[in-house]
Amino acid sequence: MKARWTVGVGLLLSAASALAGTPQFDALRDGLEAGHVGTVEALVAALPGSLRDAYALAFASRSLQGASFASPRAILYGTDATFIVTFNGEAPERGHATVETMEFDASANRFVLREIGFAADGDPAGRSISEPNPARCLACHGTPARPIWDLPPAWPGIYGERYGAGLSSAEKAGIEAFLARQPTHPRYRYLEDATRFAARSNYVPDGRAVYSGASLEPPNARLSTLLAALNARSILAELVAAPGFAAHRYALLAATSAACGPPEAYYPQSRQGDIRREFGAFRERTRLARAREANAKTERRTGVKRAASGAGATAGLEALRFVTEEGLGLSTAHWSLALEHGAAARAAPEGATTLERGLLELAAAEDPGLRNLVTYRGYTATDGYCSYLKRASRRALAAWDEGHPPRAALASAAPLATATAGAPAPALLGSCAACHTGEVAPAIPFSVPDLLAERLLEGEYPHGRLLDEILYRLGPESGAARMPRGTTVTAAEQHELEVYFLSLPPRLADRR
Ligand code: HEC
Ligand code: HEC
Repeated sequence: MKARWTVGVGLLLSAASALAGTPQFDALRDGLEAGHVGTVEALVAALPGSLRDAYALAFASRSLQGASFASPRAILYGTDATFIVTFNGEAPERGHATVETMEFDASANRFVLREIGFAADGDPAGRSISEPNPARCLACHGTPARPIWDLPPAWPGIYGERYGAGLSSAEKAGIEAFLARQPTHPRYRYLEDATRFAARSNYVPDGRAVYSGASLEPPNARLSTLLAALNARSILAELVAAPGFAAHRYALLAATSAACGPPEAYYPQSRQGDIRREFGAFRERTRLARAREANAKTERRTGVKRAASGAGATAGLEALRFVTEEGLGLSTAHWSLALEHGAAARAAPEGATTLERGLLELAAAEDPGLRNLVTYRGYTATDGYCSYLKRASRRALAAWDEGHPPRAALASAAPLATATAGAPAPALLGSCAACHTGEVAPAIPFSVPDLLAERLLEGEYPHGRLLDEILYRLGPESGAARMPRGTTVTAAEQHELEVYFLSLPPRLADRR
């Protein structure tokens, strides 16, 4: 059974795109070796023109590579984003001696991150290539590794951060400073046609561009579309590989169609009450997470501060995520391309379409009648397609339930607050400790309270002592530098962390 589904998805995925068969990173590695490449500059110069022609520029980055208006982080994604290469421009910037890559492995349907490091003296022998998906990268990109990229209508920190609008005045000044040095810059000069980044038509398609059909989407939106579609493929492959996929395929399919109603109707009668309750809790959690994410995103913006909208775009994925978590026991946290973990699925509509079509193709391969039902469906309460899915799903799940007693309750349906109630150290402290080991982030002894207490009143940070720096980093005013990186915090969680850090130094005094 399983083998057949796997073949199905392989065919589907290869038919759906023209993904190159040769692993692109291997080609780059061969090129580096053959050309004795020892610097970031030489690597960039050797990249194919298609990559150097399609890119986004970040003036504020939350990644390991620092960025500024005049020295942005370049994110080269080419025609299909199956191979992405990033670098920045200025010696004191973080990550200046590295190139980061992300490849979509089309045979395994997964993303592979790698870091290439270069020696300061440009000696090719000093070049290093990380293993695929090192922990250092997964700290932010998650497991399984996935891209981090905002969705329309805003990409805070990336030139053209407001969808459909021109550049803000800060961005305009920034791009001018960048373009002034670009033609002679040792790295940026290899970027094709950089002057377009100053033109309004790069962000707001004019009539001519629309007419000729030339690149209708601004660079940031284009990357969102491409990454969401690739992410949907990796999700689909993961669904198919789950043992419960065959039994849940009709419920999953119904969940992709808002017209088919809430998910409980696709479960056997005996479980419908439980499923309705669990789905209710799930939706509430999703709503909160989405509100937080929109909030955090607004705070990261350098331009006009207005709430990011567009949350409605993904409401349709809620039922699908629910059935995936409840039925297949898989996490859907990585369905989102946003850095904020636990954020509600905000896969772009393109991603949702890929998922819906993919699921239909897979189910129809087993049950060809489905295709006709879809073609002639009525989109009403008595939609013949939904009724068919309902019957088929209840039958399949009744059989499945016999061998698999339902989980007591979704772990993720547990109330949000329990983890923090009355705890001596805030739950989020663990995330600070996980990153600040000295590898991904500067070493700070977050997991050793006594040591931390001593260190808090020391140091010369941009905002004072370590304690001052922490307090600054916890607040929204720190923008892209806000901590904990990768997690969106509520005002209550921020307060809890502040209280904790502020309470530590006195505790030290008690001890003496
Ligand atoms: C501290 C968090 C963090 C870590 C650690 C991190 N990244 Fe990223 N990465 C980001 C963010 C945020 C973006 C989105 C673009 C930006 O802000 O620069 C990103 C974007 C990327 C992109 C562009 C494609 C995409 O996902 O948007 C690549 C390629 C990439 N990272 C590679 C890596 C590699 C390789 C490593 C490990 C060496 C790594 N990253 C570690 C935060 C991180
Ligand atoms: C996903 C990884 C990650 C998490 C989680 C995280 N940080 Fe960070 N943090 C970083 C990185 C990377 C830097 C260095 C880049 C920068 O300064 O923005 C940093 C820098 C800092 C700095 C400045 C240190 C210096 O030497 O300049 C402070 C203070 C800080 N973080 C506090 C925190 C606190 C407090 C938490 C938990 C509430 C936290 N961080 C959680 C990745 C993380």
